[in-house]
Amino acid sequence: MSNKFEFINSLIMSAPRHRWRMCKTVALIFVVAVLMISVFQRGLVGTGGDLQIERNARMQKETITYWKEKQDKLAETRQEPVYERDLARTWDITSANCSASTNVSSIEGFSALEQNFKQFLLYRHCRYFPMIMNHPEKCSGDVHLLMVIKSIISQHDRREVIRQTWGKEQVVDGKKIKMLFLLGTSSNEEEKANHQKLLEYEDYIYGDILQWDFMDTFFNLTLKETHFLKWFSTYCGNVRYIFKGDDDVFVSVMNILEYLESSKNTKDLFAGDVLFKAKPIRKKQNKYYIPPALYNKTHYPPYAGGGGFLMDGPLARRLYLASETLELFPIDDVFLGMCLEVLQVTPIKHNAFKTFGLLKDKKSKLNNEPCFYKSMIVVHKLLPQALLDMWRLVHSDLVCTLKPGLLWEASKNLNQQL
Ligand SMILES: *[C@@H]1O[C@H](CO)[C@@H](O)[C@H](O)[C@H]1NC(C)=O
Ligand SMILES: *[C@@H]1O[C@H](CO)[C@@H](O)[C@H](O)[C@H]1NC(C)=O
Ligand SMILES: *[C@@H]1O[C@H](CO)[C@@H](O)[C@H](O)[C@H]1NC(C)=O
Ligand SMILES: *[C@@H]1O[C@H](CO)[C@@H](O)[C@H](O)[C@H]1NC(C)=O
Repeated sequence: MSNKFEFINSLIMSAPRHRWRMCKTVALIFVVAVLMISVFQRGLVGTGGDLQIERNARMQKETITYWKEKQDKLAETRQEPVYERDLARTWDITSANCSASTNVSSIEGFSALEQNFKQFLLYRHCRYFPMIMNHPEKCSGDVHLLMVIKSIISQHDRREVIRQTWGKEQVVDGKKIKMLFLLGTSSNEEEKANHQKLLEYEDYIYGDILQWDFMDTFFNLTLKETHFLKWFSTYCGNVRYIFKGDDDVFVSVMNILEYLESSKNTKDLFAGDVLFKAKPIRKKQNKYYIPPALYNKTHYPPYAGGGGFLMDGPLARRLYLASETLELFPIDDVFLGMCLEVLQVTPIKHNAFKTFGLLKDKKSKLNNEPCFYKSMIVVHKLLPQALLDMWRLVHSDLVCTLKPGLLWEASKNLNQQL
């Protein structure tokens, strides 16, 4: 008991010195502890940092692998990259050697078909032919509008009048307008011998004829369409718009330019006299008759009358690639509608394109009304002399009181009255 007391006593007695020593010890321990903890923590942070970097690297690798695999998988599931492809720089078809198909008899009802359909089916697999006359230079530089006109060798007078009227090449407000005729060969040997030389001379003078080595028949018009699309895709990277039409139509180039200006923000421009839900014609006497063996759906996809329509250059290139995914169909404008359907592009119907109907009524006053023509983009159909006369009237000091839109309304009423 006393010892204990003594100890406490001594402790109290020696307090100042003893306390000082103790404080030093505690402080030392504290400093060492702090040092150790911070070193330990640094160590922790250090190893943590390495881990972090490692983890980042692993994640990066995994991410890269993930996206790569995903892309590979996408590439696998994606269809043919149909709408973008490297194309040849020149016409790459040099042989016209294409023999009749031997397996058409497997088509149901083939033997009962008319001769022209048999002919069509026998040669449907012959997709491309060599060129006889070519003019790649037509598309050099920036061309705003390329006008291409379907013609046949014997229609020389139509080409002559078009060159003098709406087909004249010009530059309007710095916009270059170019023109070409699209031809095949004659389907008749005698004509072939006599007219081919004349055609070559015509081309020598004007330099505006594209000719391919296939017979210019009604059912081969689709070949003209696909050959043009391929030709355009090969040579015409800098052409903004295309007008494609027949050689017996009236065209207002100024109205085309105005329409294009107003549609310059339209993507996939394709405009014309569009038929929605047209039915295949099943009457054999009709020029457009199509037997169910060739087309068995109730409606055609929307398509623009081939007499005259407008499309933009990039769309024409995609239409070429789309056309290659389809079997040829004997009616060219319907075939182009099928290509548009592949691309899921809906053609635009515009009232200034009159390729069907309106002027069937020969008594209609509009047939001779220049103010009507002045307000239109295309009117079907005018033969050379009438076209020349109308062109002169429209480009004289013609005063038209009605605005184009109103005139169109008036023309509808007029037609209903007649
Ligand atoms: C056309 O092609 C066939 C088979 O591909 C060949 O036997 C024939 O000799 C060719 N004819 C010509 C004129 O090239
Ligand atoms: C006919 O033959 C061509 C190739 O020669 C083939 O692509 C096509 O599918 C065949 N058609 C039929 C109906 O068998
Ligand atoms: C289309 O042209 C080719 C080549 O001249 C010919 O063999 C084929 O018979 C023609 N097709 C039709 C339907 O006229
Ligand atoms: C229509 O034609 C397609 C291909 O040509 C064929 O697969 C289909 O069976 C036909 N449909 C009918 C109802 O005949």
